[in-house]
Amino acid sequence: MCGIVCYVGSREAKPILIDGLKQLEYRGYDSAGIAIQNQGQVQRFRAVGRIVELEKKINSIPLPGKVGMAHTRWATHGEPSELNAHPHADQEEKVFIVHNGIIENYHQIKKRLEKKGVEFSSETDTEVLAHLIALYFDGDLGEAVRRTMADVEGTFGIAVLHRDAPGQIVVARRGSPLVIGISNDGHFAASDVSAMVRHTSQVVHLQDNEMAVITRDDFSITTAQAKLIQRAVEEVEWKAEDAELNGFPHYMLKEIYEQPETIENAMRGRLEPGEGVPKLGGITPVWDRLKECRHLVMVACGTSYYAGCVGRYLFERLTEVDTEVELASEFRYRKLNFPPNTFILALSQSGETADTLAAIREARRKGAGLLGIVNVVGSSIARETDAGIYNHAGPEIGVASTKIFTSQLTILTLLALLIGRHQNLPLTEGITAIRALQALPHQVREILAQAHHIEAIAEKYHKCQNWLFLGRKYNYPIAMEGALKLKEISYIHAEGYAAGEMKHGPIALINPDMPTVAIAPMDEMYEKMLSNIQEIKSRKGPVIAIVTKGDEKVKELADEVIEVPTTVDYLYPILTVIPCQLLAYYCASLLGRDIDKPRNLAKSVTVE
Ligand code: G6P
Repeated sequence: MCGIVCYVGSREAKPILIDGLKQLEYRGYDSAGIAIQNQGQVQRFRAVGRIVELEKKINSIPLPGKVGMAHTRWATHGEPSELNAHPHADQEEKVFIVHNGIIENYHQIKKRLEKKGVEFSSETDTEVLAHLIALYFDGDLGEAVRRTMADVEGTFGIAVLHRDAPGQIVVARRGSPLVIGISNDGHFAASDVSAMVRHTSQVVHLQDNEMAVITRDDFSITTAQAKLIQRAVEEVEWKAEDAELNGFPHYMLKEIYEQPETIENAMRGRLEPGEGVPKLGGITPVWDRLKECRHLVMVACGTSYYAGCVGRYLFERLTEVDTEVELASEFRYRKLNFPPNTFILALSQSGETADTLAAIREARRKGAGLLGIVNVVGSSIARETDAGIYNHAGPEIGVASTKIFTSQLTILTLLALLIGRHQNLPLTEGITAIRALQALPHQVREILAQAHHIEAIAEKYHKCQNWLFLGRKYNYPIAMEGALKLKEISYIHAEGYAAGEMKHGPIALINPDMPTVAIAPMDEMYEKMLSNIQEIKSRKGPVIAIVTKGDEKVKELADEVIEVPTTVDYLYPILTVIPCQLLAYYCASLLGRDIDKPRNLAKSVTVE
């Protein structure tokens, strides 16, 4: 949710921290702040709004110092205001802290501290940490943080500096990611590698209940019980350019256009056309159990959840595994039976979504095998699952997920195919699937080439206040994802429905001002979708149809048609979602919305 970046080194910290914050802004952006330590002093500045507001405030102020921390906030406790923005400090302004996560017992701690005479200056849960650390500090900042960790319940990724502990920053985590970066001129710490990828590709991930003391020349990781930890340095595979716009007006559009490549990357080295069986090295540790798997439960949130919804149909089509998909936030409320050899598959771009993480921990307690399809290497879900498959899609920065969705669908197809071929899926079907997968990158390019046509459709309808998205079977989740994309970035009200349910409610809304996006490729559902389109047209509702190239019947009925190339029925979602993404993008752009940072949303939801 919020973003943290810290630096301790031989260069001036201010430009490094501001630049790092900008890379993290997608995580939260309602206020921001910075604290820099210099010669026994710490200067702190905070501002409401985007990072540019903070930048304006400190532009003309000399802020020397080579040790500092910065934060971009997504409010949980207390409105976005300067007083609630991080870094927070103790009363004497000696301790400065930035925090991601939620301190669940902050009320009790606050009462305890107030009794001791501590006065609070913000409405945040974070502030208790600053006062506790101040209370426990007796010259050793690491020790004060360790004692504080023992007092608090909840989740945190924190970075702390103290006026009387020059040249060091202490970081700690429980449930919120923190990564240490190693460079020739100092050390970094951040909630996300994108904040430091311009300076280093050498990182070390902190794990839960660990802390680290970071100085210019060194860092040391210890557990909450003060046990020293030796952890291998990892190489980040992202390059700095991956996190840049490269001429696109928005990250979302850039990421939509990256899809031919990210779909290719999801398959690279994983296809064996001759056998009709993919190779997925990441699941080797569990393969013996997985090939016998008869029960699979996918858990995810947001767009990743809709990928899971397509995945259920894919697994039912290609394997003999009973497959369910659950919203991660609802998973713990279900009384699911886990027959022997049940696997839980978590889908997550960030690998840090709190509800998804909580779901896999719950599943672990129940004895299920844990798999992950994750984009961020070394993230919590990647580490806590028994085995998994990485998307290798590079950083996704636009808050509205696009390229990861199609990458997840590609990987789900590979996994279903692999299990299916070891069960009863015939060789010919395996070969057909692999050929169809190989054609996807080129087919996605064909759809992207119609961007101007889709923009013209958006031009016509972007002022409509309510939209309906309809689809069946594989494309029912695409209707939901299409509606989600539109509402999250354009703020237009949109609903995604299973087309068969239209008659049970939404049809009452149909009128000339309410467009319906009908996802009607030439699959086994085609005739039924045709009837739905007829029903809408006879009530004078405009229809934007997503159809297979060459379709004539829908063309006659619909007001607008967007064509996708022919593929096998279960791969259509990878194609039909692209026009939905572009439609949402262009509507939002015509409405002048802040596409990459839509209001109230955050890219990585690390609170439950
Ligand atoms: C947030 C993002 C969505 C994303 C969802 C799940 O809501 O805005 O784009 O789909 O979280 O995130 P994950 O990282 O677990 O895929």
